[in-house]
Amino acid sequence: MATPQPAVLNRNMGQHQWYVHLSRLDGADMGVIKSAVQQLRKDCADKGINLTIGLGPSLLSDLTDDVPNDFQPYETFQSIDGSGKEAKGTQEELLFWLNSERKDEVWKAQWDAREALKGHMRVARETMTFIFGDSLDLSGFKDGTGNPEPERDVEVAVVPDGEPGAGGSFIIAQRWIHDLEAFNLLPVEEQEKVFGRTKADSTRLSPQPSPSHLSHVELREGRTGDDSTPKRDEISRRSTPYAFHDGTVGLYFMAFCKSQAPLRERMRAMYGMDGQERDRLTSYSNPASGSFYFAPSVETLDAALS
Ligand code: HEM
Repeated sequence: MATPQPAVLNRNMGQHQWYVHLSRLDGADMGVIKSAVQQLRKDCADKGINLTIGLGPSLLSDLTDDVPNDFQPYETFQSIDGSGKEAKGTQEELLFWLNSERKDEVWKAQWDAREALKGHMRVARETMTFIFGDSLDLSGFKDGTGNPEPERDVEVAVVPDGEPGAGGSFIIAQRWIHDLEAFNLLPVEEQEKVFGRTKADSTRLSPQPSPSHLSHVELREGRTGDDSTPKRDEISRRSTPYAFHDGTVGLYFMAFCKSQAPLRERMRAMYGMDGQERDRLTSYSNPASGSFYFAPSVETLDAALS
């Protein structure tokens, strides 16, 4: 069986996360890029840093023929209700996601990689995130309750053997900006209706309010958010919060899936692009950036970077 990158399946994330998105510069030397990424893999393995390498559609197809089906670049998701709400597309070619208990070691590993890539790839953006309490979003709501059990991650998030891209995983990576002050003005009962779960212990509301987040993302065989039918097309989330010096705060949304369509379907639903009402969460938070990547199997990465 093709081997998933270990960090994709590791639910024991370190406290400190670092996301670095890069794209090639004109005249980039693929040999330099390959050896810089290989060195980063080695440095992270030596230090016990969890590293996920995600490749955008253009870099993946330049590095390997092992390209999964239906791998599309991220296009802006735009609401059609006149609100102007959107999830901006900022597709890049390469994602490093590092996490560890040691922020210093994470910094050093990604810094060395960036130095090695200078002149060949530019850093488009980077975000440092952290784990807040018991995996809370900064709104105070627990994030991850509805995730599949960890032992089901392979079934949910890894392309099965026999398919192109086997052992790999589709990634969505977005930096959401919260209007936390506006959200905090809502009484707790209203906040709970935004997400569809209680704040104190993440109990699922029943019935689910139709504008709630769960009514848009909890895909079911029947109506979305109707828990009388089984779940379908699950994803495995690893989101963590961030806080910038200028006061900007939010959630770095990171999730894995064995195909890309369920990620797009949820985004379209959240922005009401198929005639649904918009996810109420988008009245309080919207992403400043968003990309799709593919995390190839260890074997495909080894071959592609050799
Ligand atoms: C500001 C951004 C977001 C915040 C603060 C947020 C927060 C939450 C919270 C509090 C829950 C309920 C607890 C849980 O199951 O984790 C939840 C559930 C969920 N969210 Fe989000 N979320 C965000 C964006 C997204 C996006 C962009 C997607 C998908 C593209 C998504 C997919 C899901 C899924 C699949 C569930 C679980 C549904 C189930 O139980 O089956 N979320 N989210």
